Amino acid sequence: MRERTVRPNGMAIKRLRLERGWTQADLADESQIAKRTIENAEAGRPVEIRTLSILATTFGSEVSLTDLFDSQAADASCNADGSATQASDISIPAMHIGNAPSLPSLLIGRERDLANLTARLAAGVSVTERPATQVLTAVRGWPGVGKTTVARAMAHWPQVATAFPDGVLWAALGPSPQILSELLAWGRSLGEESILLSKDIAEASQRITALLRDRRMLLIVDDAWDASHVLPFAVGGRQCAMLVTTRLPSVADALAPTPGDIYHLDVLSEHDSLELLGKLAPQVVERHQKECRELVAELEGLPLALQVAGRLLRAEHAKGWSVPELLRELRDDKAKLLNAQAPADMAASPGEVSPTVAALLQKSTDSLDPTIRKRFASLAPFAPRPATFELEDIMAVWKSDEASARQTIDVLVDRGLLEPLGDGDFQIHQVLVHHANTLLKLLKKR
Ligand SMILES: Nc1ncnc2c1ncn2[C@@H]1O[C@H](COP(=O)(O)OP(=O)(O)O)[C@@H](O)[C@H]1O
Ligand SMILES: [Mg+2]
Repeated sequence: MRERTVRPNGMAIKRLRLERGWTQADLADESQIAKRTIENAEAGRPVEIRTLSILATTFGSEVSLTDLFDSQAADASCNADGSATQASDISIPAMHIGNAPSLPSLLIGRERDLANLTARLAAGVSVTERPATQVLTAVRGWPGVGKTTVARAMAHWPQVATAFPDGVLWAALGPSPQILSELLAWGRSLGEESILLSKDIAEASQRITALLRDRRMLLIVDDAWDASHVLPFAVGGRQCAMLVTTRLPSVADALAPTPGDIYHLDVLSEHDSLELLGKLAPQVVERHQKECRELVAELEGLPLALQVAGRLLRAEHAKGWSVPELLRELRDDKAKLLNAQAPADMAASPGEVSPTVAALLQKSTDSLDPTIRKRFASLAPFAPRPATFELEDIMAVWKSDEASARQTIDVLVDRGLLEPLGDGDFQIHQVLVHHANTLLKLLKKR
C-alpha cells in the first residue's frame, strides 16, 4: 500500500519543538522518527501522514494532527512519487476511516461523550502505559439514543486519527450478523486480499490478528446483540483499542472486563434536544416555542424520536397543514411517531428502506418469552411521567410475588427495556412506554 504524503506546517512543528526545549535530535529520539524526516517536516517538505500523526502524539494530547497540517498547501500536496493529489483526497479522515460509514450529517451535542470516549481509548494504548491487555470500551444506551451516530463520529474524530494513526475498522452486526463477510471486509480494508482464502471465521480472525499485531488501529463493532458475535472481532494487538456498541446491558456486561469499561450513552439534554428539533423544523420551532418545549420534554431526549418528530413537523409545515394539531398529537399519542419511518441512516443496510420506529423497538421485545413480553406490556397503562416504578408498584401490576417479579425485571433490564435507578427503582423510556402500549393493544385483540 502506498502511503500518501502531505505538506506539513513546518513552522508549527518547529515552534512546538522549541516550546518543549528540544533539538531536532531530541524530537527524533522522542518520536522514533528519523532526524532527516524531521528536518524535512520542519522545512515544509512533503511527509507521510503517519509521520505527522506520530509527531502530534509525541507533542502531547493538546496537539492534534490538524495542527501540523499546512492547510494552505492542501492543493499542492503530492504523492510519494511526486504526482499531485486532489485536495479532497488528503483530508485527514480519508485514509483513516477505513471501511467506516460516513460522518453523520447532523450531530447535536455529544462533544463531551466524544472527548470522554477518545480519552479512554487513547489512554489505554498510550505509549507510556502500554497494557498487556486489549483495551475495550462498551457503549450502551436505549435504542435510538445515538450509539451508532457517536461511533461514526469517532471514526472521523481528529483525536482518534492521532491516537490510532493506522486508522479505523468498522463492523456492523445487528441481531443476525454476517460475521465472516464483515471479517473479510476488514482484511480487504487492510489491503490483504488473501484473507478471502480463509475457510472459516476462526481462520479469518487469525489472519487479521497477524495483520494487526504492529498496527495502531481503532476497531469499532456496532450494534452487538450477543457477546459471542463480538469475539471473532477481538483481533487487535496491544496498540489497538476496541469500541463496541449495544442496546443490551447484558452484552455490555459480558464483554467489558470491568464495570468501568462500560460507557453509558445518555439521552440528549433538553437544550440539545430543542436545538435538534430546531435544525429539523426551524419554522415550526420558531413559531411554536412553548409547544415544542413540551414535545421535547415528552420525547425525553431520544434522538430517534426527535428526528422522526422533526421530519413529520417539517413536512406538515411545508404542506401548510395544521402544525399545532400535529404537535398535540405527537405529544399525547405516539401512534404517528411509532408508525413513521425511521431516519434513512437507520436502514439495516445501504439501499434498503428504513423500518418504522415501531419495528426498530420491536426488535427488543420480539425475542422475549411471551409471559415476560406480556408483563412488560402491562406496565404501560400505569407508567407515570417520567415512567419510574418501584419494585412494589411492579409487583402490584403483575400480581406477582417478589421472587418472580425480580426474575422478570432481571430479564427486562438485560434487554435494556428497564433501566435500574438504584434503591429498587426502575425507569422505562417514554418512547418504550408507547411501544409497550402498542404491544398491549395487540395482546388484547387476540
Ligand atoms: N447527536 C445527534 N444529533 C442529531 N441526530 C442524532 C444524534 N444522535 C442520533 N441521531 C439520529 O437519531 C437516530 C438514532 O441514532 P442511532 O445512532 O442510529 O441510535 P442507536 O445506534 O443508539 O440506536 C439516527 O437517525 C441518528 O441520525
Ligand atoms: Mg445503532
